[in-house]
Amino acid sequence: MAGRIPQQFIDDLLNRVDIVEVVDSRVPLKKKGKEYTACCPFHSEKTPSFTVSQGKQFYHCFGCKASGSAIGFLMEYEHLSYPEAIEELARSQGIDVPYEGGQRPDPAVKKAQTDLYDLMQQTDQYYQQQLRQHADAQTAVSYLKERGLSGEVAKDFGIGFAPDGWDNLLKALGNTPEREKALVTAGMLIKKDNGKCYDRFRDRIMFPIRDRRGRCIAFGGRILPKDQPNDKDAKYLNSPETPLFHKGRELYGLYEARQALRDIPRLMVVEGYMDVVALAQFDVRYAVATLGTATTADHLQRLFQLTPEIVFCFDGDRAGRDAAWRALQVCLPEMRDGRETRFMFLPDGEDPDSYIRKIGKEAFEQEIKQAQTFSDYLFKQLTDKADISGIGGRAKLVETARPMLSQMPEGIYRKLMFEQLEKLGRVDLALPQSKPAAGGRFKTSRQPGKKTATSMTPVRKAITLLLNQPGVAQQWLQNETTDQDELSKLDLPGMDLLLEVLEILRISPDLSTSALIERWRETPSGNHLAQLASEQPELDDSAALEVEFIAVMNALKKQSIDLRYDDLQAKLDRGSLDEAEMTEYKMLLQQIYVVKSASKPD
Ligand code: UTP
Ligand code: MN
Repeated sequence: MAGRIPQQFIDDLLNRVDIVEVVDSRVPLKKKGKEYTACCPFHSEKTPSFTVSQGKQFYHCFGCKASGSAIGFLMEYEHLSYPEAIEELARSQGIDVPYEGGQRPDPAVKKAQTDLYDLMQQTDQYYQQQLRQHADAQTAVSYLKERGLSGEVAKDFGIGFAPDGWDNLLKALGNTPEREKALVTAGMLIKKDNGKCYDRFRDRIMFPIRDRRGRCIAFGGRILPKDQPNDKDAKYLNSPETPLFHKGRELYGLYEARQALRDIPRLMVVEGYMDVVALAQFDVRYAVATLGTATTADHLQRLFQLTPEIVFCFDGDRAGRDAAWRALQVCLPEMRDGRETRFMFLPDGEDPDSYIRKIGKEAFEQEIKQAQTFSDYLFKQLTDKADISGIGGRAKLVETARPMLSQMPEGIYRKLMFEQLEKLGRVDLALPQSKPAAGGRFKTSRQPGKKTATSMTPVRKAITLLLNQPGVAQQWLQNETTDQDELSKLDLPGMDLLLEVLEILRISPDLSTSALIERWRETPSGNHLAQLASEQPELDDSAALEVEFIAVMNALKKQSIDLRYDDLQAKLDRGSLDEAEMTEYKMLLQQIYVVKSASKPD
């Protein structure tokens, strides 16, 4: 196990990098007032609602609510793990990441990973080169041509050829024991019991699978048409799970779609490699394929980050219908307002590849437009299964649909679905009033620059001020004599969080907004804090913010003093105040006077 990265290092690193540079080199930003904006890289939009604040070192999207520090941005945008994102930022600053406990296997692991990516890139190039040069490549080339692929599309997808034989790749790239071992780890070689290795992919057309950054992480290999087909050979052979490749997360063709399209109107999920490539050949560049697995929630989240509409394309047969129903279940929790999914069924015996060849791009896209929407499909399926002309059928419909719709996130879409269910079931479901949107009392302003809502509790206001301008804590912390325990006795929502933030700022006074929020990574409070950090304070001047912060804290302090005072007063009335409590009571009386005069506007 790698040692922990010291918190101090992470704080310093975030102090050193500029999130504007980190983002701008990946998503070009425009300056707008004090902030920088762009169209959000995490969801599809036409007008920019993604903003990066240099002051807070924090990014935030008003559309999809993505937010975070430079570390969070790299994790999201480049699909890096937390330590990987830190490594990447450190590298950009030319510094090494220290690991606690002196254990530093991490650089080695890191290096091994880099080597794997490097080796996969060489493998990718090797197969593409074989398609152009190898003496036996002609069968593969003619097969691809026969299937209607142009050289251009073959190049866009990096299609290659693995020649027949047990050791072509082994000889070409596995020429040291280390490289041989790495190729086994990458899934390209298979190690036999006797320790000898051989090529996994032989005599196949190779489809490289790329990650978000375009790095080759795996392959799919298609068998060539044979005179004497061997039943044992699978038509498609896929890379196994490796440190670089996780089937349930990756989608074939997603990188290529993002390369080909600036705005992605929709993404279509199909089954096969050849479907993706054939659709691209017909200039339908928004198809992606799951890799021999069903669509996962991970897949959907990645797709919805890039586009508001996902179309599933299924075979019209029984298996296709079952797969569609399963996909719908996975969609339920992802159906937020603004998103749509469609379910398209192909005629029997067709796949997207054969079908677009038959009817052409225009008719194909027309069918996509007419494909059943999420709600059409869901209600059609359920009403087909229950005869809703009778009470029994309607009860069954409601029974089945209700738990399904309950999985949808709060919003208009969900509300309309329930309304439709009430209509079809002819019942009044007495639906509970919609709960407040996620985040509840931490609800944030929707528009950039819009002033903070006035209905803020003092605790929430204090946290918001601290997050916007961590420096405001210092004067309070220096002069503060109130025991934190006293404040926490107030038992107000968010008070523990406020005290935690203050405690961190006591120890590390120079933290930026983003470094502060990093402390809550992966905790439920993290989201709340990120939302609060993206609120614009009404005042724009740091001295004024400090005054406001102290006023809020004084108000809280007064509340806590009042509480304790009431306690002691009650005891006094009962005549049960001991000597120490009497002293405290007198002190409180005095403090109440001081706080009152301090918080009184003059
Ligand atoms: P299909 O058998 O429908 O193949 O498998 P296809 O995509 O239409 O291929 P062509 O048109 O004959 O070239 C669909 C997908 O299922 C997975 C692959 O991901 C394939 O693209 N599959 C299929 C396998 O993993 N292994 C197999 O043996 C077959
Ligand atoms: Mn096919």
